[in-house]
Amino acid sequence: MTQPLTPTDWHPASWHTREAAQQPTYKDRNALEGAVAQLAALPPIVTTWEIEGLKEQLAAAQRGDAFLLQGGDCAESFDACTSDNVVQQLKILLQMSLVMLVGLKKPVIRVGRMAGQYAKPRSADFETRDGVSLPSYRGDIINRNAFTAEDREPDPQLMLRGYERAALTLNFVRSLIDGGFADLHHPENWDLDFVGGSPLAAEYHQLVRQVSDSLKFFEAIVGEPMHRTHRVNFYASHEGLHLPYEQAQTRFLPHRKRWYNLTTHYPWIGMRTADLAGAHIEYFRGIANPIAVKVGTGVSDEHLQGLIGVLNPNNEPGRLTLITRFGVKQVEEHLPRVIKAVRNVGAQVLWVCDPMHGNTETTAEGYKTRRFDNIRNELRLAFKIHQQMGSYLGGVHLELTGGDVTECIGGARGLKESDLARAYKTQVDPRLNYEQAMEIAMLIAGRLRLHDETA
Ligand code: PEP
Ligand code: CO
Repeated sequence: MTQPLTPTDWHPASWHTREAAQQPTYKDRNALEGAVAQLAALPPIVTTWEIEGLKEQLAAAQRGDAFLLQGGDCAESFDACTSDNVVQQLKILLQMSLVMLVGLKKPVIRVGRMAGQYAKPRSADFETRDGVSLPSYRGDIINRNAFTAEDREPDPQLMLRGYERAALTLNFVRSLIDGGFADLHHPENWDLDFVGGSPLAAEYHQLVRQVSDSLKFFEAIVGEPMHRTHRVNFYASHEGLHLPYEQAQTRFLPHRKRWYNLTTHYPWIGMRTADLAGAHIEYFRGIANPIAVKVGTGVSDEHLQGLIGVLNPNNEPGRLTLITRFGVKQVEEHLPRVIKAVRNVGAQVLWVCDPMHGNTETTAEGYKTRRFDNIRNELRLAFKIHQQMGSYLGGVHLELTGGDVTECIGGARGLKESDLARAYKTQVDPRLNYEQAMEIAMLIAGRLRLHDETA
């Protein structure tokens, strides 16, 4: 018997009856409720047409007919909501998607970790410095990073500031795309300033020429320009961590007879908030967006099967993505296991590899970093294991920036530990820089060797 599309015992605030992990404690409940009410009255950031369109594309990726590129900052910050940053982030994702499109010969679904990636899970509720304990910084939508009692106090008004920045970000992205910025006829629009000096530049420019030549060739045969190449689809995603924010913009759409989270197209559940009995699962089960869950080594087969049963009871195509993040050392132990567990319940899911979060380490100087080789090798093993098991790895989830930062070690330019201090800018986790991100795209596209069998 199929389940109703929206569970009858669910509403956007029903998560309040469950234990909610990783939430701040607001001192003033009235101020919190006031901010949620203000947020609920504002227009949505995304529409259900876009959300359902994305779900269809994710269903295609599930079947092996498309590939998902999901990437962006670990945490966006309000200060970084600038024209340059948005353009850079869009440029790197467009460039990577072009490389992957040519290499994989499949549509690439572009999803930014942007326009709402403002809340972060933390390992402790409090941070202590020199004997002073203050609430941990949980992301710009909740409190401020500076270590003062005032800055660390959770402020509900920050949800409204976050909503505004998310809207500004997506508005600019949409205008750029609608204005022709992403036109495949003009990939020179997306060149990043320092692309010229990169060891990968020649390879990239050759590929761009190849695309331009193919387009011209095709248009010459057809006798008219290919208009659909002027525009690409671009979607937003963030971790659906801060439940009051997610709840406030959750609406019932009568023409679809379902509830949608309209702050973003494609929210995901982080590793620390995937407890079956917890508030996040309760919230996510009732929304119709395509959703993702991070799967780490601590997730048992039963837990995963339970999540699938609650989050996608009708086995709806495109609805559920599993983002595995085991780390290079443990991927061979855990990935075959979870693929079997999913197969055993006959579930359709989109498999995505996050080769970042299982490979984080801290250097002797205290920099949180990741080694390019470990990232590449987890990805390589994930492709290999899925292939061996007759399943399809349909996407990649990356922390990256179009900027020239030094946060991850290795890659074509051979960044060393001693280079990290030069441009270490991330607020939370280390990101691939422009060149390293491009290299991953080329590896996936088969233009460089992902299959380094020595690793
Ligand atoms: C993240 O994606 O930034 C994150 C916190 O990941 P995870 O939940 O997989 O640890
Ligand atoms: Co992160």
